[in-house]
Amino acid sequence: MIFKEPSGSIAIVPSLLAADHAKLGKAVRIAEQAGAEWVSVDVMDGHFVPNLSFGPAHVAALRKETRLPIDAHLMVERPEMFVKPFADAGADLIIVHLETMKRPGQTLDAIKARGKRAGLAIKPRTPAKALLPYLDRIDLALIMTVEPGFGGQKFLGKMLPKIRQVRDAITLGKRRVWLQVDGGINTRTAADAVRAGADALVAGSAVYGAKDPGRALREVRMIAERARQH
Ligand code: DX5
Repeated sequence: MIFKEPSGSIAIVPSLLAADHAKLGKAVRIAEQAGAEWVSVDVMDGHFVPNLSFGPAHVAALRKETRLPIDAHLMVERPEMFVKPFADAGADLIIVHLETMKRPGQTLDAIKARGKRAGLAIKPRTPAKALLPYLDRIDLALIMTVEPGFGGQKFLGKMLPKIRQVRDAITLGKRRVWLQVDGGINTRTAADAVRAGADALVAGSAVYGAKDPGRALREVRMIAERARQH
């Protein structure tokens, strides 16, 4: 399944970080059956963020389980080291953090040179203006609404103006760039994120922490779509 361009509707992106790590294949099939547009694999190196999680082998294994596009969110100090391994493993979109690169353009170009979509992420303390110069070189901008490293944290409402600022820049430049938000998205926060301009919502614990993850995903989508229309 190819990675679609933004089309005005909302993408709900389950984060496998919150799934049962002994049953990742099942988790990604649940996401696919529930209508997720793609899934997110949060990659952590214990340096950029104080946690360890997935590697290229997990993406390669998940690649065999699903046709859904897979986004590899590299929360790692040396992203340039991991572009090839995750591209070869079958990631469709590789998201790198602005804070980890001296020459962001070079790494973004390296992702595209491998035929993958390129995403650029910023942590809560990084201002939107640092990301804006790269909007023409990316397919997705990711605004973290928690301090990266762990799932299940509280949505940082003070990120809403930043989401709005990036949305306005995407709209003004008529760019085909997803505006993804990651961290603390659930039925209580999804509407605010969408009203601020997000069109891709990463949801980990709200989906995989629910008794019925498929139903939980559809509930988040319903609330997000309702917010988009008003
Ligand atoms: C943080 C992770 C989490 C995760 C989403 O580094 O990126 O934001 O994907 O987790 P929830 O949806 O549980 O906040």
